[in-house]
Amino acid sequence: MAVLSLASSLPTRAPTSQPARAIPAASGDFRTALRHLAGGVSVITTGRDEDRTGLTVTSLSSLSAEPPTVMFGLNLSSSTYPILARHRSFGVNFLSAAQKQVADRFAGRGGEKGPARYADAEWSEGRTGAPLLEGALAALDCELEELIERHSHAIVIGRVREVRLGSNDAALLYWRGDYERLGWMAEEAVTALGLRSA
Ligand SMILES: Cc1cc2nc3c(=O)[nH]c(=O)nc-3n(C[C@H](O)[C@H](O)[C@H](O)COP(=O)(O)O)c2cc1C
Repeated sequence: MAVLSLASSLPTRAPTSQPARAIPAASGDFRTALRHLAGGVSVITTGRDEDRTGLTVTSLSSLSAEPPTVMFGLNLSSSTYPILARHRSFGVNFLSAAQKQVADRFAGRGGEKGPARYADAEWSEGRTGAPLLEGALAALDCELEELIERHSHAIVIGRVREVRLGSNDAALLYWRGDYERLGWMAEEAVTALGLRSA
């Protein structure tokens, strides 16, 4: 296994006769390494009506079970950031393998902005008013607990106020720069297990 050390490119001791030289960390190696980290794809939703927007993330993870909290990394330059900071609630929607188009739309790949990202999918409101996606594997309605700004991103911490469980379909993953799927769609599983003929 190749060992790429970010620390090894930094001087261990600054030369006394010259000012310390800033050597850039090997961010290319860091990005390459992270391509190998497979992540479940979620869509974060926030805002109301014409104010609605959101984004696709792979950085979502649980923080604690008691109380139920989640966290994700949000780019400070994202259009979602000011809306989330104002509304102080958001939805987390775990995407199924059949919802790749929703992921692309919320990643802004077709140029859609704001409410246009909600087209061609069905939504309903959670307890906080955050939009939740019909047909998601599961959806969480969250109150914003804390926004911690660090470097280019904010760490968003949400307190889960409502949980919606969806289907047992295959999950949408992102790995090595592309979408993948994990598991079977519920329909496929029924056919494969012989519960119904194809
Ligand atoms: C698979 C995937 C995962 C992403 N994960 C994150 C993430 O965790 N945090 C983040 O801030 N942006 C993430 N992005 C980028 C945002 O989805 C995208 O930049 C955003 O929707 C566009 O920002 P805009 O609202 O300013 O147009 C991800 C994009 C993709 C395709």
